[in-house]
Amino acid sequence: MRKKVGIVGAGNVGATLALFVANSGLADVVLFDIVEGMPQGKALDILQNTAVMGVKASVTGTNSLDDLAGSDIVVITAGLARKPGMKREDLLMANADIVGGIVRRLAPQCPEAYYIVVTNPMDAMSHVTLAMSGSPRQRVLGMGGVLDSGRFKTFISMELGVSPRDVETLVLGGHGDYMVPLVRFTTVKGIPLTKWLSKDKIDALVKRTRDGGAEIVSLLKTGSAYYAPAQSTFEMVRSIILDEKRLLPCSVYLDGEYGVKGVFNGVPVVVGSKGVEKIVELELTEVERRAFEISTEEVFKMIKILKEAGKV
Ligand code: NAI
Ligand code: 2OP
Repeated sequence: MRKKVGIVGAGNVGATLALFVANSGLADVVLFDIVEGMPQGKALDILQNTAVMGVKASVTGTNSLDDLAGSDIVVITAGLARKPGMKREDLLMANADIVGGIVRRLAPQCPEAYYIVVTNPMDAMSHVTLAMSGSPRQRVLGMGGVLDSGRFKTFISMELGVSPRDVETLVLGGHGDYMVPLVRFTTVKGIPLTKWLSKDKIDALVKRTRDGGAEIVSLLKTGSAYYAPAQSTFEMVRSIILDEKRLLPCSVYLDGEYGVKGVFNGVPVVVGSKGVEKIVELELTEVERRAFEISTEEVFKMIKILKEAGKV
């Protein structure tokens, strides 16, 4: 039977993801939003696009969460997006209400679903999704590291004038200002980045990666990035549907891995048909470990605020 991908939020990320999934022909897509007519209109447009491409697809738009019943994968993109000057954390309370409310209603209708969380602050929203769905931790993954790694790869490829296909990067930690781009695990065709660029240059690329979301927000002025975020989410969706077992940096609930317990943070994960199939533990240097700890502390702070407000 064909897989069903339910997408919550038909805004920039949700609709672009719907396009990518539909074009791939890998699954049926149901696109949900609270704005009347909008998901239906976008779904029809996407369906017509697949007809032009010659792909057999099923794409429907809806204002009823019930239509997402039985989804194999639920992608959460609903909520507020960043505006200039806003940090991802500024969205905490409003998006916790939106995401928590949706997942609580959806969970009984999608008992087998894998959740991929995009809504910011993503690591905290993944926590909300885990708490409200009651799913095992293997079924909830946050998207951030794939995008952040893609950004790091972009800037390295631009700097060196080489194809991004030959660049391998890894970004750990939360999807926020304290993400941890790992220079030690970054290579160009297997050759360490440190052989290609000076420390100052690398530091500048790391900084641009950390600020990658804000750079686009300040250019767009009315919203945040969505093409690369949607493609990054699609990579995760495809790895689950096709059981690709890709090693992707994802935010997952840590239960002792990396010495951390009880919080989501970005680590390398084997993603397959069983969701989080393996968390790969890297030996970090003292500096890397401290950076990862700081990033974890930032996520813990948000979870504390949510707990005190009774949201998780
Ligand atoms: P957008 O504003 O284009 O779309 C959000 C959609 O959510 C809107 O269509 C809105 O009507 C809908 N919505 C609001 N409340 C809803 C509810 N209760 N039920 C259903 N739909 C609801 O925003 P965009 O650009 O698509 O971003 C979505 C979220 O993803 C934001 O929180 C953004 O910060 C986050 N994001 C996260 C990234 C990551 O790497 N984790 C990357 C890019 C965006
Ligand atoms: C991004 O990194 C806003 O989290 C979003 O583009």
